[in-house]
Amino acid sequence: MAKIMCGVGTSHVPAIGAAIDHGRTQEDYWKPLFDGYQPVRDWIEEHKPDVAIVVYNDHASAFSLELIPTFTLGVAAEFQPADEGYGPRGVPVAKGDPDLAWHLAESLILDEFDITIANNMDIDHGCTVPLSILFDQPQEWPCNVIPLCVNVIQYPAPTGKRCFKLGQAIRKAVESYDKDIKVAILGTGGMSHQLQGERAGLVNAEFDTAFLRDLSEDPQRLVNMPHVEYMREAGSEGVELVMWLIMRGALSEKAKETYSFYHVPASNSGAGIIVLEDDEEAK
Ligand code: DHB
Ligand code: FE
Repeated sequence: MAKIMCGVGTSHVPAIGAAIDHGRTQEDYWKPLFDGYQPVRDWIEEHKPDVAIVVYNDHASAFSLELIPTFTLGVAAEFQPADEGYGPRGVPVAKGDPDLAWHLAESLILDEFDITIANNMDIDHGCTVPLSILFDQPQEWPCNVIPLCVNVIQYPAPTGKRCFKLGQAIRKAVESYDKDIKVAILGTGGMSHQLQGERAGLVNAEFDTAFLRDLSEDPQRLVNMPHVEYMREAGSEGVELVMWLIMRGALSEKAKETYSFYHVPASNSGAGIIVLEDDEEAK
């Protein structure tokens, strides 16, 4: 049977992708961040997932305000990098896993989650930057990719609690899939940032590091956090962090932190990464 091998939470800041694309990761500004990513890159290379479910939000690339699905699952055979205004990033096309994706769609929808199914969806920095953070610049991404896109752009976004429950349903769906494959789930976005208005540039390192800590120490505190608290403490775009709770819900209650790292600043935000693995007993 398939299993969730790990959860990874990570920021998906576009400038991190640009630093990789333009060979700037060893410059003074970026080096500390990429040094912090290296242990995750080594770990993921050693543990090699077959498929990554990448939970992210589209930033008006594949969808506009004309159509705002809350949860969208990509079932296509491949996903092209989106043109976000400067041409598509020069990263590999992401190969999907239609068989597993359709199994997820069936399991989640019959489990009463109203998932939108996407047969054609370009993936923007929300999805491609986490892949670059984990895998750097390969010719092909080393695993298949199933994009799961969440609306956190237009109010009302799903609650943290809804996201956590969706993660639990994803775990159940993966564990009922009959192929012996290892699935990584990535929750992306954040951390604290606000790109607009009077508080533009807001970063709250204390909030971010407490969020990282409580993914393993007190996930229920995060699950119960209302949107307004994300907005107040982590800025208007800090609400992207609810997507990490989909990743967290897909792991067991007692999941343990394998690695975490936090760095400020990365562009206009606090950048964090965490690897969580299920407790051996919980498995
Ligand atoms: C920025 C954009 C994002 O989508 C994000 O999640 C973090 C930062 C930015 O433009 O700096
Ligand atoms: Fe974002």
